[in-house]
Amino acid sequence: MKQNKNNDAQDLGDIDQPLLVFGGPYSNLTAVEAMQQVASQKAIPADRIICTGDIVAYCADAEATTAQIQAWGIHCVMGNCEESLATGALDCGCGFEGDSACSLLSTSWYGYAVRQVTPEQCQWMGRLPRALRFTMAGRQFRVIHGGVDQINRFVFQGSGPEVFKQELEKTGEDIVIGGHSGLPFQYSHDNRYWLNAGVIGMPANDGTQDGWYMLLTPSESCADTPSKEKSIEVSWHRLSYDVTETQQRMIQAGLNTPYKDALATGLWPSMDVLPEDERSKQGQPLILALTVIC
Ligand SMILES: [Fe+2]
Repeated sequence: MKQNKNNDAQDLGDIDQPLLVFGGPYSNLTAVEAMQQVASQKAIPADRIICTGDIVAYCADAEATTAQIQAWGIHCVMGNCEESLATGALDCGCGFEGDSACSLLSTSWYGYAVRQVTPEQCQWMGRLPRALRFTMAGRQFRVIHGGVDQINRFVFQGSGPEVFKQELEKTGEDIVIGGHSGLPFQYSHDNRYWLNAGVIGMPANDGTQDGWYMLLTPSESCADTPSKEKSIEVSWHRLSYDVTETQQRMIQAGLNTPYKDALATGLWPSMDVLPEDERSKQGQPLILALTVIC
């Protein structure tokens, strides 16, 4: 793997087989183990798996989840949680307003995570790339955590065209894969795309307990173009796991927080960061259609 001289993105080269992307393990070891089982069933090796960051957050197994991801050997971009732990910051750097519910709720888990992760793990987090790049079926991808040049920028489908225009103008790649916001979605304009795989460590505020991951699959030539280039199928999938086990670990760790309840209800304890459109859809089970990129 080589570093692109023009930016700090780690170059993964050309990928011509299915790629699995997920975000936000959030210290949820049980969800990570379930994700590993899915990858194994689909025979997707570690070098074709990308995590969009925030390995450590709300749940109880900060140290063990980090160790599990390290041992798995997948590609990870640095999330704001990794940046904060690596730099010894006093909070998670999530970008929450100082007196917001999100900010107050993050205090307990962050303090717990700081005590749990090892110095070696913090150093490893500090070495994670802030961006990855790769090509697939002739298209260029960039993988980041929040915004293109702001690790904790929240980008949701409902953020609006101006936000996507601003962000996409900052990069030369055709397609950006982001994380951080916790919800799976796709946005497209002028044949450029913003994709979010969703997260596995918390539900998607849709009233179900499932996490989400995304598969990019190089496929046959696009039917409506004369090009011989392959297309890319982008599909989103639910990840089910033993939520009760994650809750038990949180209770044992003294993290009897609203996030523990959210694992079961599928509803976020605060929607401070959400645009109006996403707020209005709380509790409605998500359905994401297959997207074909030509
Ligand atoms: Fe984040």
